Amino acid sequence: MIDYVTQPGGKLIGRVRVPGDKSISHRAVMLGSLAEGETRVTGLLDGEDVLSTLAAFRVMGVRAEGPEQGSLVIHGAGLHGLKTPQSALDMGNSGTAMRLMAGILAGQNFDSELIGDESLSKRPMKRVADPLCRMGAVIQAAEGDRPPLRIKGGQKLRGIEYHMPVASAQVKSSLLLAGLYAQGETVITEPAPTRDHTERMLRGFGYDVQTKGARISLRGDGKLKACHIDVPADISSATFFLVGASIAPGSDLVLEHVGINPTRIGVINILKLMGANIELLNPREVGGEPVADIRVRAAKLHGIRIPGDQVPLAIDEFPAIFIAAACAEGETVLTGAHELRVKESDRIAVMAQGLKHLGIDARETPDGILIKGGRLQGSEIDSHGDHRIAMSFAMAGLVSAGPVTVRDCKNVDTSFPGFAPLAKRAGLSIEVQGGR
Ligand code: S3P
Repeated sequence: MIDYVTQPGGKLIGRVRVPGDKSISHRAVMLGSLAEGETRVTGLLDGEDVLSTLAAFRVMGVRAEGPEQGSLVIHGAGLHGLKTPQSALDMGNSGTAMRLMAGILAGQNFDSELIGDESLSKRPMKRVADPLCRMGAVIQAAEGDRPPLRIKGGQKLRGIEYHMPVASAQVKSSLLLAGLYAQGETVITEPAPTRDHTERMLRGFGYDVQTKGARISLRGDGKLKACHIDVPADISSATFFLVGASIAPGSDLVLEHVGINPTRIGVINILKLMGANIELLNPREVGGEPVADIRVRAAKLHGIRIPGDQVPLAIDEFPAIFIAAACAEGETVLTGAHELRVKESDRIAVMAQGLKHLGIDARETPDGILIKGGRLQGSEIDSHGDHRIAMSFAMAGLVSAGPVTVRDCKNVDTSFPGFAPLAKRAGLSIEVQGGR
């Protein structure tokens, strides 16, 4: 068991580069493995989630060197070159890995099984299993449509037209990846924009993907050509620092080389609406993804009604945004975010519980939360093994009246290895207790 103990009074100063983007890193490993030729990835996140994806491809015969300091070389097996895995493929804590892999495995000529840890084993898989089965896949889930997923190989997939009932990049990506193996055209319509890294990266690998408004389509039977992927720093990891620097008086921090894909910047839009002082410096494009350095300075925040169109664009950032809301003047209201209940934890319930322990008036609603800003007191918080909850409450410790202890922080390594030392270097008083 690993706990964080933070002391109040710090401020975040200087320049930091947070690790590589998790969503882009998963896709780089997947597409590099399925491409023809040698794909070189730099800036890769070597967090446990991405390592689960990489391990799965190694089990299926893909050779890769690294990752070492973010560099990975993948010798692609081609779309039809994967080998039968001799054991179940363990996706650890990662919903992205499991759902995207389900799309890839549905198109193989061998049987496979996807398993996960305790948290992943509770997460819904019907959202990918149903449309994949409509494409001709044969997938058996455990009770309640949860993992493990048993996927029968040797099926002939066909393209379908699918209107996604939930705005989910994982579902979209899973179907696009299955579509690589399908006869004809796979057409997906999304109810709201979601992260488009899969579409961008497929194009980077030379694959024709069409996007017309909410409609995304591709045809099967093409090829992926190896390329170089430079992964930007993860805006979801930068978020803890955006919030920390906004709430801690005297902070002035630059986050370097952060991905600012328009489908990911909900957190910047929301924090700015709350009064945050955030500037994008030196915007540029790296390997098909927009990138910038982000300067954030402490500011007086006020509560807002979070615009519905920003919810899918900030879906992973709400635990940290709730901390900003707790430190803001007035009330913040979030609705239309039921998806938060099926993340690595029920993020509405777990955040509401933690905020109450810090003395904040936080009320759950079925699809959101209502938070009244106030003075945070020190307390002990249970992260429920959710990496983003752990890091969010660690940042709350900057401004609480007493120490904040966050329990069960081991899973921070799934997305942000080295969080505590980096946060400490920037100015958060944080000690790691337990573990090795
Ligand atoms: C992700 C999509 C989102 C996000 C997750 C990563 C992706 O999930 O929460 O952390 O890489 O495609 P949903 O598709 O369930 O919204």
